[in-house]
Amino acid sequence: MKNAEQILSELSIDEKIRLLNGVGNWNTFDAGGKIPVISVSDGPHGLRHQDGSEIPGDINDSNIATCFPTACAIASSWNVDAAKKMAGAIAAEAKAENVQIVLGCGMNIKRSPLCGRNFEYFSEDPLLSGEMAAGFVEGLQQNNVGACLKHFAMNNQEKYRQSSSSNADERTIREIYLAGFEHAVKKAQPHSIMCSYNKINGEFSSSNKKLLTQILRDEWGFKGFVMSDWGADINAAKSLKAGLDLAMPDSNGYLTKRIKEAYKNGEVTQEEIDLACKRIIDQALKYEEHKEEFAGGTKVQPVDFEQQHKIAFELACESAVLLKNEGFLPLPQKQKILVVGELADKMRFQGGGSSHINCAPYPNAVEALKEYYEVEYVQGYLSTFCKQNKKDRINKKLKAQAVEKIRTAIEKNPRMPVLYFCGLEESYEGEGFDRETLKLPQSHIELYKEIIAITKNVGLVTFSGSAIDLTFAPDAKAILHMYLCGQACGQASAALVAGIKNPSGKLAETWPLKVDVGAPVDDLDVDYKEGVLAGYRWYETNSMPVQYEFGYGLSYTKFEYSDLKVRLSLRQAQDKLGSGTAGTTVSFTVKNTGLVDGCEVVQVYVKNPIDDLEISRSSMELMAFTKVFLKAGESKKITLTLDEKAFTVYSTKKKCFAVVQGEYTICVGASIKDIRLTAPIKIKGADIHDLVNKDSIEQQGIFVKHPRPKKGEFTVTDSLIAMSKESLYVRLLLKIYRGVIILTSHSKSKDDPAVKIGITGIEENPLESLISISGGRVTEKFAKRIVKIANR
Ligand code: BGC
Repeated sequence: MKNAEQILSELSIDEKIRLLNGVGNWNTFDAGGKIPVISVSDGPHGLRHQDGSEIPGDINDSNIATCFPTACAIASSWNVDAAKKMAGAIAAEAKAENVQIVLGCGMNIKRSPLCGRNFEYFSEDPLLSGEMAAGFVEGLQQNNVGACLKHFAMNNQEKYRQSSSSNADERTIREIYLAGFEHAVKKAQPHSIMCSYNKINGEFSSSNKKLLTQILRDEWGFKGFVMSDWGADINAAKSLKAGLDLAMPDSNGYLTKRIKEAYKNGEVTQEEIDLACKRIIDQALKYEEHKEEFAGGTKVQPVDFEQQHKIAFELACESAVLLKNEGFLPLPQKQKILVVGELADKMRFQGGGSSHINCAPYPNAVEALKEYYEVEYVQGYLSTFCKQNKKDRINKKLKAQAVEKIRTAIEKNPRMPVLYFCGLEESYEGEGFDRETLKLPQSHIELYKEIIAITKNVGLVTFSGSAIDLTFAPDAKAILHMYLCGQACGQASAALVAGIKNPSGKLAETWPLKVDVGAPVDDLDVDYKEGVLAGYRWYETNSMPVQYEFGYGLSYTKFEYSDLKVRLSLRQAQDKLGSGTAGTTVSFTVKNTGLVDGCEVVQVYVKNPIDDLEISRSSMELMAFTKVFLKAGESKKITLTLDEKAFTVYSTKKKCFAVVQGEYTICVGASIKDIRLTAPIKIKGADIHDLVNKDSIEQQGIFVKHPRPKKGEFTVTDSLIAMSKESLYVRLLLKIYRGVIILTSHSKSKDDPAVKIGITGIEENPLESLISISGGRVTEKFAKRIVKIANR
């Protein structure tokens, strides 16, 4: 087989430039058979493979695949091996479909529970995100399928994701928003990374040299190639120079023309083109080596979908979080139970957008519960968003019918338990739009109030892609949160309710009482004013009460912790960290003191010294964790090594992470608030004042209003929504586009996530991005005409 240099030497400059843009939606260029094609496909929790046979434009029409738990669910397992196993199973389906790179995992930090795409992300904590991502990458790549970490970086809200600027100071960017990527890149070397749509401090990620070259490659040692999010390459020549190798998808010649012009006028060099090509070819050759394992090859394994489903079931069970239990669960089997709520029937187990999996139907919770109980099902509300305006009338009728049925059933059998299924509907969260509130749909809340007025013997089974407000149900006896846990959701919830499985998930994110910080803004400048205090760092440092804290989750058994020992590594590492602490270990014993077997997620936090209130530093930070299985009565000694970032801050003066001296406390526990063991520890290092300067984020001048495009100055890098504010013509045009999208949406409602993503795409994408993402249907000429008219 030829190597990358040999292939490169056989390509003409035109072929090289063509290689830098995708072919169709999902492939790379083959230069007449000289380069092996890389075929990519979404997405993080299963394969959304579109092979060309789909209904054009229908994001939900893809080949049948297994829908595994979404990232928000799998992260709650806190089990890196679970992420690895899931990715391994996805790899099997990818190979059978001849897909070389799976576009996942998504690993943006959950800055706010309201980000519509949180269900595709792991956590608000970079260590947990980075570890889960590394597991996912290893699971794919051990099976010779490439991973693509996304969206690099700081795409933490959906509103204006294509054009907003995420503004933050360097410590915040490094310690919170890049740290997870850094961890996964260094630990697992993903074959590719997808740069995000948004800007960071005014610079598009796609043309951000500091991000894509200095940090990613020079500092972290990333060896793969960078591809753009779909339509994120706004300035082709600048992006290439910054380190973007592959612009996706096919722009029907538009981006190629841009690079050719830039090459001709000397703006980009042959070396820069060659480098990007070589990075793509290097990866392509990796898959070529294992060609026989992919569809059409001699070693390809047929997918055993029943076995895949079993994996999806095990992972879904591991991911569920038991939030409350007053002796209600597990429900003794073989009795009669009332199952209320349409989500038990039409279950919500994944989110909308590019990660949507078209899976085979599997038993819903109503059917699955019948294996253990005599089930009476009551719909209670309508969870589908078919016709918004008719919804309330329908819900009122359904509620009245449900109340009647429940009352009659409880009169006959006053002790009959009620399982109420409720949660977020599809129209509440998804790719391309954010949530406005933590609250559940009013119809779900109202029905709960009716039920609890009839009987107090009620447990909730809930669904959502992120934190929700459960304060409406203070009297519920149990709450089992399933997140969006994939196609085995019905069977997993039934097995957990019946006690066949013991819940062991813990929250990978804080469930706040209200959204204090980081809420998505309707603005092109998104200022990260909370700085390094994202997620639990905010609530802990400011001693604020929450609904459920980070790391929280119950089990049907109990665990006891003892014998904490901390071994500070004496190795004076000579690395950039200047740390004598890398390799510090913490050991302790955990015992299952209950009557059933179970898994415990043990967490190690470091309590930081806060020497100077003017220098922002979280009071506690997660620095190690693992999940341990213990039979009833069994104990195990656990030894964990602290993350190399323990005791450090990103030094803005030294331009690296560095250890801060002081009195720390090692805290071992079952959640960030449920600390069972502590040990003080004195750390040698630098004075924090020698590492970071005292200027507040405001003083650092980061929160400047980046210039807004205005009439007379619009260019193709502006969006239709931006132009519409000043142009009647563009307003009319947008109205027509919205109408066309709805009309061609195969009778879906305008609230369907698949339709919403189309509308926001047209509205918010820079025109230049529309040219490329539409595969040339929006022509350059037409885009320029719009700009011209908008400028009048
Ligand atoms: C999403 C990516 C996805 C890509 C391809 C984009 O809109 O942001 O996550 O991989 O589409 O479907």
